[in-house]
Amino acid sequence: MTILGRMKSEKLSRKAVRCLWGIIRRHGRGFLVGLICAVAAFVVINAMLGPTSKSEFCGAACHEMNTAYKTWELSPHGANKFGFRVECVDCHLPPKDKFFTHLAAKSYEGAKDGIKHVFGGEYDVEKIRTRVVEHISSERCLHCHDSLLTKPSGSAARKAHLASLSRPETPENRCVHCHEHVGHERHSKLFSP
Ligand code: HEC
Ligand code: HEC
Ligand code: HEC
Repeated sequence: MTILGRMKSEKLSRKAVRCLWGIIRRHGRGFLVGLICAVAAFVVINAMLGPTSKSEFCGAACHEMNTAYKTWELSPHGANKFGFRVECVDCHLPPKDKFFTHLAAKSYEGAKDGIKHVFGGEYDVEKIRTRVVEHISSERCLHCHDSLLTKPSGSAARKAHLASLSRPETPENRCVHCHEHVGHERHSKLFSP
């Protein structure tokens, strides 16, 4: 940055501090109450986020989710030889490291599910399933499977993944187009008619 640029930015930050100090002096009590409320809300939201993000909670709180929960437990993401469980929120919500996007989506989906649970009609698994397949973005899968091409996969997988990564927008190249059943093992005897 040039000396002139630095002087300008220092002047601006001094102005911002003075402005903030002015607000605190003028609306001291209101500002403090607002700040305490904001911190308290943040602490409460963070404390609630943990328990309400557990797969046991998502799968057992409402009977509509029971099949989803049981089929997840049988899937390679609910149980695998590594003992690592990929939770419901990992696939059904934007990643947790995008905190505000994750929180907004969680609040929206939670409220929608709650309203449908109370006021909605019969839960149509097939209809919801189709909608979910259309909406789960490959980005969510790639958040964990970020080194697909370095795996010692067979040539069919390698070819498919090369295409999937180079033209992700094509519908046939979306991860769930080929891996529809990775989150829920629906072929099990338990769920076959
Ligand atoms: C690896 C990613 C992944 C994980 C983890 C996952 N899902 Fe899914 N889920 C999917 C996909 C893909 C579909 C659509 C295809 C299907 O239904 O199998 C789906 C469909 C659903 C549906 C709609 C169909 C139905 O059975 O009602 C619900 C509800 C659901 N998931 C809830 C959950 C819950 C609850 C958990 C955790 C206990 C969970 N999912 C874990 C990927 C995932
Ligand atoms: C939070 C991390 C995470 C997310 C998100 C995730 N996976 Fe996985 N996935 C895993 C782990 C861990 C395993 C089990 C270990 C392994 O086989 O590599 C696995 C296994 C798999 C397998 C091998 C299954 C088998 O039969 O062995 C496929 C295919 C797969 N995931 C695809 C997907 C797709 C598609 C999505 C998105 C809908 C997804 N994963 C989302 C972590 C994740
Ligand atoms: C056009 C079909 C197709 C698409 C799209 C696709 N895959 Fe695959 N994938 C395969 C095939 C075929 C295999 C090898 C057989 C199997 O395990 O099902 C495979 C295997 C895998 C495996 C097991 C490990 C391995 O590499 O063999 C993972 C993990 C996986 N895919 C993740 C993904 C993710 C994440 C995406 C989205 C970026 C994706 N796949 C998109 C066809 C596809």
